[in-house]
Amino acid sequence: MRNRLPRFGGSQLKHLFALTAGPVALLFAFISTAQAHTPPAAAVASAHPVATAAGHEILAAGGNAFDAAVAVSATLAVVEPAGSGIGGGGFWLLHRAEDDFQVMIDGRERAPLAAHRDLYLDEKGEVIPGLSMNGPLAAGIPGEPAALVHIAEKYGRLPLKQSLAPAIRAAREGFAVNEQYQKLAGFRHKKMRADAATANIFLLDNEVPAIGHLIKQPDLANTLEAMAKHGRAGFYNGAVADKLIKGVRDAGGIWSQQDLDEYTVVERQPIRGEYRGIQITSAAPPSSGGIALVTMLNILSGFELDKIDTAHQTHIIVEAMRRAYRDRADYLGDPDFVDIPTERLTHPFYADGLRNTMRLDRATASSALPGVARDSAGQDTTHFSILDQDGNRVAATLSINYPFGAVFVPAGTGVLLNNEMDDFSAKPGIPNAYGLVGAEANAIAPGKRPLSSMTPTFLETDDRVAILGTPGGSRIITMVLLGALEFAAGKPPADWVSRPRFHHQFLPDAIQFEPDALSQQTQEKLSQLGHQLKPMKRRYGNMHGILWQTQENNVQAASDPRGGGSAPVKTH
Ligand code: DON
Repeated sequence: MRNRLPRFGGSQLKHLFALTAGPVALLFAFISTAQAHTPPAAAVASAHPVATAAGHEILAAGGNAFDAAVAVSATLAVVEPAGSGIGGGGFWLLHRAEDDFQVMIDGRERAPLAAHRDLYLDEKGEVIPGLSMNGPLAAGIPGEPAALVHIAEKYGRLPLKQSLAPAIRAAREGFAVNEQYQKLAGFRHKKMRADAATANIFLLDNEVPAIGHLIKQPDLANTLEAMAKHGRAGFYNGAVADKLIKGVRDAGGIWSQQDLDEYTVVERQPIRGEYRGIQITSAAPPSSGGIALVTMLNILSGFELDKIDTAHQTHIIVEAMRRAYRDRADYLGDPDFVDIPTERLTHPFYADGLRNTMRLDRATASSALPGVARDSAGQDTTHFSILDQDGNRVAATLSINYPFGAVFVPAGTGVLLNNEMDDFSAKPGIPNAYGLVGAEANAIAPGKRPLSSMTPTFLETDDRVAILGTPGGSRIITMVLLGALEFAAGKPPADWVSRPRFHHQFLPDAIQFEPDALSQQTQEKLSQLGHQLKPMKRRYGNMHGILWQTQENNVQAASDPRGGGSAPVKTH
């Protein structure tokens, strides 16, 4: 039997409503009505059926959405090693139904204390290719282990040991190679072969294993067990920490015990905004996701998109993307290191100004917008969404950055390290692996968190709640934008996750789009408006969404058809 927390019931509500009058009462009734409801079923939508099952297993055992989030995160670390892991980090957006408390758990990696601004430059000041991408120098100090312990202890109902159990089991018993795994291992094959520890775990005789081959990870199981037993100290201190540091340093990395000791999770206020009656709650810096999403939606709120032909609709959305990504490159970085004008960037008046620079009959060249100050001071990564039957929610996007991260496993740990250091701007104006440019705000500094695009998001109206997000590097934010527009149009999660996608990120100055996203006619019209078009060979992203219709009281969930995830809705 689950241990439900007490909350307002319908009769208390009516009583309170009768005592109060006017708009305040209406507001109160609105908020409390939302509280009084609980969903008829729980949903877990993640990139791997084994991780989704782990989430439901923990919910069935009496855990809440936060316990389930720990189980899903840890299991994804095992069964989707290309995307995220305890050698990486992420952002967990939480909504606690009991008191409507919302918070973003920032478990983003930090630059090692020995890192510095020019870490990846040669004596001539040029970027050394690959250094921020492969091997231990590419790895930030992992945040996911600390975040999982924090979430379990502060928000969960079950002991960490119980929530980590499905992941430990999957690591010991093995998971079966699937198509997604093969694709991503194929993509990183050369680098994976180059690191013996990585090849031993993730390849078979140095080759990408066949579908169905079982990958067992006993070292990772031991590391997860150390966490289950000792909490945070199981990873950041003791035998695991010693092996991590030795492995990193022996191979030319710069981690120290002080780095592990100093790593802390930060609780941050999510970014908030409103679009046509929809409350937006999304990722705060050091992710650029929430600010860029709100800026774009603020710009778009000045248009009746559904009354505009597809080509002009696409043009307008692209122009909003262009402007938000320009600001991203210029202003955004780790808020503990740089002052971010969040209020200005998310203010409707600011968007009015940006909208005024747009023309309906012409693309704005990115070069015509103020430049990014240059010398001023798929399917890796993963997203999952959870709703429990108390109405608690989690939207989490987790990453080791590129597929299989830095392709480096410190011996004996089973921990595949991230290459999140590549999300910093190695040199102002020089694009990273996703073609993103940045400036001083995202320059490397000791202990700083690299700027992210991860955008775990809640959308709420008076009768609908959405939980969504996706991996996809720089395209994450525009995917969430397109998903949010589907939600705004009243569409179900299956439409948010499957919708064909297009993207613009200021630089390069081109619309990237999936093979089926823009008709020939729309492409021609966009060219006439002055847009550069860059068709993508493949579809991208792996979105997982949940919708709770609070009035009709039903729950729907969907996983992106581009990935191999699952999104069952179940009662517990
Ligand atoms: O934090 C970020 O924005 C990136 N490290 C995310 C990378 C990603 O989504 C890769 N997936 N295709």
